[in-house]
Amino acid sequence: MADIKATNITWHEGHVTREERGGLLRQKGATLWFTGLSASGKSTFAFTLEHALVQRGRLAYVLDGDNVRHGLNKNLGFSAVDREENIRRIGEVAKLFADCGIITMTSFISPYRKDRDAARALHVEGKLPFVEIHVNTPIATCETRDPKGLYKKARAGQLKNFTGIDDPYEEPLKPELTIDATNTSPQQATVVLLEYLEKAGVFAT
Ligand code: ADX
Repeated sequence: MADIKATNITWHEGHVTREERGGLLRQKGATLWFTGLSASGKSTFAFTLEHALVQRGRLAYVLDGDNVRHGLNKNLGFSAVDREENIRRIGEVAKLFADCGIITMTSFISPYRKDRDAARALHVEGKLPFVEIHVNTPIATCETRDPKGLYKKARAGQLKNFTGIDDPYEEPLKPELTIDATNTSPQQATVVLLEYLEKAGVFAT
């Protein structure tokens, strides 16, 4: 848990409603939370969906683990405590984006169930849709792909606490969607995800 050090602060209510912002964008904000092992395909799915949404005139944005760790979260490593803080911040940022009316994709391993559940709880409390997508590509496939050579390093003992090798990944118990990149292309996943968003009433005409 992050220490609470902010005291003597007051919440200011804005003059613009979420509905007014949504009206401008012809959509409702939502968070699509992709979770899964490194190299499972989370970011590829998220960026392909972002592209498809923008092509259809919908405002979408990907918060990507590797990218966010270049900036906002560059002071965090891969201990359980740092991963928790990584996910806490992204849960909060995604909530702000969704409140803005943006269809927000997060692509983080987010290995701990309680951290993902905390991100979900923030959204539920804020009355914002939260869609957990388990990218459950088997580790053998992720390891064969190994685009960054990190599994190889981890197997060789040159990289400690690597998720799936010597660090845990807790599978979601009740994700809204499950996608395995071994039998689903990014285009096929995009079709499924667009359909889900449509049914969830995220798009206004
Ligand atoms: S998370 O566990 O805190 O959610 P996050 O998604 O931000 O992780 O970052 C994962 C990425 O960091 C991986 O795709 C990989 O490129 C890189 N990485 C570096 N060290 C590790 C590690 N020990 N475990 C997992 N990923 C790592």
